[in-house]
Amino acid sequence: MDVASVLCMNPPGDGKRSYANNSLLQRITISKSKPFLVETTKNMIRSMKRSSSSVNGGWPACFRVADLGCSSGPNTLQVISEIINTIDDDIICNQQKDDRDHHDPEIQVFLNDLPTNDFNSVLKEVPAFYNQRDKNKLRCFVSAVAGSFYGRLFPKESLDFVHSSTSLHWLSKVPDYINEENKGKIYIAHSSPPNVYKAYKEQFEKDFSNFLRLRCEEMKAGGCMLLILVGRRIPHPSASKYFSPFWDLLATSLMDLVAKGLVKEDDINSFNMPCYTPYKEEVREIIEKEGSFNLDKLETLEVNWDLREAIEIGEENFVLNENQSGQIISDYIRAIAESILVHHFGEAIIDSLFKTYSEHITEYLHFHNPKHVNILLSMTKK
Ligand SMILES: C[S@@+](CC[C@H](N)C(=O)[O-])C[C@H]1O[C@@H](n2cnc3c(N)ncnc32)[C@H](O)[C@@H]1O
Repeated sequence: MDVASVLCMNPPGDGKRSYANNSLLQRITISKSKPFLVETTKNMIRSMKRSSSSVNGGWPACFRVADLGCSSGPNTLQVISEIINTIDDDIICNQQKDDRDHHDPEIQVFLNDLPTNDFNSVLKEVPAFYNQRDKNKLRCFVSAVAGSFYGRLFPKESLDFVHSSTSLHWLSKVPDYINEENKGKIYIAHSSPPNVYKAYKEQFEKDFSNFLRLRCEEMKAGGCMLLILVGRRIPHPSASKYFSPFWDLLATSLMDLVAKGLVKEDDINSFNMPCYTPYKEEVREIIEKEGSFNLDKLETLEVNWDLREAIEIGEENFVLNENQSGQIISDYIRAIAESILVHHFGEAIIDSLFKTYSEHITEYLHFHNPKHVNILLSMTKK
């Protein structure tokens, strides 16, 4: 499977099935990681100012920031707004009026995703984003960049800040040589042979190292990168019966459809998800081994599966309802994985699959209190 040409979050046109309408989990993650983002941005501003005595006190005439894996929907411009507001506050508060009139720095924003992403809907939001910005704030220019972040996207040494949230768990491909060994499963499971975990871990190491090397080429020295990775709590698959309940239960749901004669077992045996949720220390090791960046901070952030944190972040339409949590999670997984599943199993099974899946998730939630694990990290280019 060529992931870059198949993977696509459900577009806004899909209405209630769209990623835009099923990305509350990511929105909570972004909101809860705001203090980390603001602190990282402020540290970067401080260190840029320390590093030069030029007109803008070390600040470039045009500050370039990229968000990689931006998708489409309400989250797309949210992080960018936070970064820019922090920069605005610092630069505007600390510059003399005369100085600002002559040397106002500008900000260029690049929103990146795969070419399959619905960039039309993203770009339609840009005028409103410009209009919301106070006229006294720094000028900002937004553009879209289509392409895989596992390839070069920007000119050499052109970027000051790189951000990516909940995107780097998508691999460039399904690891080689695991299909035959991982029968009846679609990702690393507690009962998968050890080679399956090894193959996934190695593919992630290859992809993430490549990502770091490419961003190092594109970023200026001292540039800052902030990543939010979907991760895991459990160091090794042997440590828990449910290594990755999302995918374990989706595999169980597919097997249910085999029993009903809707899916061929061979089709499950030849399918594995092109994603990997690393353990925090695996991420640290790869960054240190690859060597392009200094790791400044590494933390984890957990969000409950039932998304009860939505209330804390002021999501007005959210009602915590235990009976609906299974459905919400099922819709969320559908919004991110439907394109991949349709590509392999065809469209006809999708409604039945997610009906069964939501039942399995509801049952699982009855006995467990699972959390989504996010790994937050900030790095500086050496
Ligand atoms: C779960 S969405 C996250 C979107 C957004 N950052 C958020 O926090 O809501 C992951 C995004 O990563 C994108 N993605 C996956 N692999 C990619 C790649 N190799 N290059 C660029 N984008 C990629 C997907 O297309 C998807 O839009």
